[in-house]
Formats: sequence, C-alpha cells, structure tokens
Amino acid sequence: MEGCFPCLGGAKKKKRPPEKPQIPPASAAAAEKPKLGPSSSVTKQDSLEVNKDIILSNGSDHHQIAAQTFTFRDLAVATRNFRPDCLLGEGGFGRVYKGYLDCVNQNKVVAIKQLDRNGLQGNREFLVEVLMLSLLHHPNLVSLIGYCADGEQRLLVYEYMPLGSLEDHLHDPSLDKVRLDWNTRMKIAAGTAKGLEYLHDKASPPVIYRDLKCSNILLGEGYHPKLSDFGLAKLGPVGDKTHVSTRVMGTYGYCAPEYAMTGQLTLKSDIYSFGVVLLEIITGRRAIDSTRPAGEQNLVAWARPLFKDRRKFPLMADPALEGQYPPRGLYQALAVAAMCVQEQPSMRPLIGDVVTALTYLASQTYDLEAHGNLRLVAPGMPPRTRNRSLGHGVADQRGSG
Ligand SMILES: Nc1ncnc2c1ncn2[C@@H]1O[C@H](COP(=O)(O)OP(=O)(O)OP(=O)(O)O)[C@@H](O)[C@H]1O
Ligand SMILES: [Mg+2]
Repeated sequence: MEGCFPCLGGAKKKKRPPEKPQIPPASAAAAEKPKLGPSSSVTKQDSLEVNKDIILSNGSDHHQIAAQTFTFRDLAVATRNFRPDCLLGEGGFGRVYKGYLDCVNQNKVVAIKQLDRNGLQGNREFLVEVLMLSLLHHPNLVSLIGYCADGEQRLLVYEYMPLGSLEDHLHDPSLDKVRLDWNTRMKIAAGTAKGLEYLHDKASPPVIYRDLKCSNILLGEGYHPKLSDFGLAKLGPVGDKTHVSTRVMGTYGYCAPEYAMTGQLTLKSDIYSFGVVLLEIITGRRAIDSTRPAGEQNLVAWARPLFKDRRKFPLMADPALEGQYPPRGLYQALAVAAMCVQEQPSMRPLIGDVVTALTYLASQTYDLEAHGNLRLVAPGMPPRTRNRSLGHGVADQRGSG
C-alpha cells in the first residue's frame, strides 16, 4: 500500500437517484455477523454502518453467503506453513500467499491474505471484506472463498488470480512480463469499469469502493480484470443523504481532492480514482512518482494542461506502446480519463456512461499486425495470432470484462 492517510473536515455532494431491489432483513442480519473470535474488538465506530435503513442487496435474486470458514491449521497446511516461496505479495494489511486447498482430492489454488495482527484497523477491514464479498458477486469482482478467524488470526481466502495485479504489469519492469498492448489495456479498463458499475448501480444501497488503484485490480486468464480488497468499501448514501462522512482513507494519488479535504464520500470519489487508473493504463505512469522531475510527479497535475491541447495527446501515450495504438482510440480514452478526474465532482460522469464509452473502445480491436497502420477489426471476427516479436504478445484479447 502506498499510504493511507487520516481524516480532515466537511462539504456537499451529489445524490443517488434510483431505488433498487433489496434483500430481506434476515439475510442481511446474518451477513452482518461473520463469526469473529472472542478477541475481536469492533467498536461502534468501526462496525459496519448497517441499520434497518441500509440492507445490502447484490441486485440479483440470489443472496447466498457462500464463504467457508477455515481453521488456521487448514491454511498453514495450504501454504506449507506460510513458506516464503509461496509469498505472492505484501500490502498495507498483510502478506498474500499462494495456497493449495485439498478439496476432496482436488488441489484448488487460492490466494491467502494473512492480516497483520495490529489491532482494530485490521479487524474492521476483515469484517467489511467478508461482508461485502459474501454478498456481492460479479465477474469483475474477485471471489472470496472463505476466511479464518481463529483466535487472533485473521485470514482471507480468495480465488487465485494467475496474472497478478495490473500494477505489476504496468509498473514493475523487473518482472519478466510482456508489455500490455493497447487492446488489452482497453479490455482491462472496460472490465474494471464494469466491476465498479456493479457496485454503484446494481448493489443497493450503492457501495463506494474507496480504494481503486492498479494494485487492487487483479488479472485472471486472458487479462480478465477483477476488483479486489473491499476492506475500505463503504455503503453509499441512502434516502435524502448526499454523501457519507468518514475518516479519509485511501491511497495518495488516487484520492479525490474534495474527499481528501472534507471526508465526505460520494460515488464520484470512486470515479476520480477510476480516472487516475485509466490515466495510468494509457500513459504507463504511476499516480505518484517521486523519481520524475518536479511537475511530473503527480500524474493528474501533469496531465491536466495536456488535456487542453489535442496535439499533445500522443505525448501522453505510454512509450512502451511504441506508437501501436489507434490515434482516435487514444483521444477517446484520454477524453474519458479527463472527465473522470475533473476537480468538480458533479462534472464527473456516472459509471454507466464510462462503461458505455470503454466497452465501445474495447470492442474496436486495434490490429497490431498491421505494423503501425491503423486497422480496426470488427468484433466477432475470428481470432488472430499476434506477432510476439512486437513485444505485445497477448493473443486475441477481444471483448471486455
Ligand atoms: N487473489 C489473488 N491472486 C493472486 N495474487 C494476489 C491476490 N491477491 C493479492 N495478490 C498479490 O498480492 C499483492 C499484495 O496484495 P494486497 O492487496 O495485500 O496489497 P496491495 O493491493 O499491494 O496494497 P493494499 O494493502 O493497499 O491493498 C498484490 O499486488 C498481488 O500481486
Ligand atoms: Mg490490494
């Protein structure tokens, strides 16, 4: 994690319009109380703000809470006692290991996150993550297989995402990975937007994700993106409320300016973070990069003046693309990013409109084999094999999310 920062003060925001179907109170109540051990200490402030007005629905008729419980021993066996060579990565809340669950003679591969045992904060994240991922199911959200709350131990068991995080692919040159080509980038952007659309428009009340960033976008086979890490997620405003007030949490560089200043959270805060991610996808630059010259360290601050001059758009494309992108697609993708990172939250688009724009862009497959000649391949045409020598070796990534 690049850095969580604590809260500041207050202001006003936009309203959620539609009413959505809700699940019966009994299901919500059951979900509200994942089994925590006796040591768990979730304060009123830390507890989920679920009350009789706020009953989380996943927008479908099926609300099963599928997460299994595991003992600490089960997960120690699965990770060969948390062996360092099983370590997949480490974030602000703990380490993530690759594990193998011996589910009836089937070795199921999973990712196991062991939360640091450093008090309240971790416990709260744990509870929110279990609740959110038990109720919310979508092809662009990572699945929670189960959890362990054994004594002081808090572990989460997720589906394993074989291609790691978007951050690894965009920003970790030490990894021996092929650079993402334009088509794959648009596919990832569209799929990510669909995951967010589900949280904003299908869940009821809407869920504000609050921690959208490249390290939380995990990639499955075919670079299929899924949002992970719901520990900071918040149930959005209901009724006449326009925002939820909360401590400012999130990651520096992705956090909407009005939320950082006032602590008042709206769906538009997520749209801002999405705009930053989209900019990273297009430019290959990090949200914050202290190794760059002053004036280029903050991605949004660097991009804003460039947005005003269309002739500067090619300067914003990731040099790793080596010019292999459709100029019109670049223009349109940058236009979406520019709208999302607007200072004024009310000027930012709704996620549904972002999904429409990016789904279109992802469907306009750019033909890398045409060696720089712009050719758009219509969706539905048969798969082609990409030329690996171009260094964009993702074979046929057509369609999105
Ligand atoms: N389900 C998963 N499948 C495969 N790899 C995973 C999975 N979950 C996490 N990882 C790997 O573990 C790394 C650390 O994840 P983690 O969520 O703990 O930290 P982070 O996202 O980098 O930071 P933060 O703590 O702010 O979320 C990820 O970057 C990713 O490489
Ligand atoms: Mg994460």
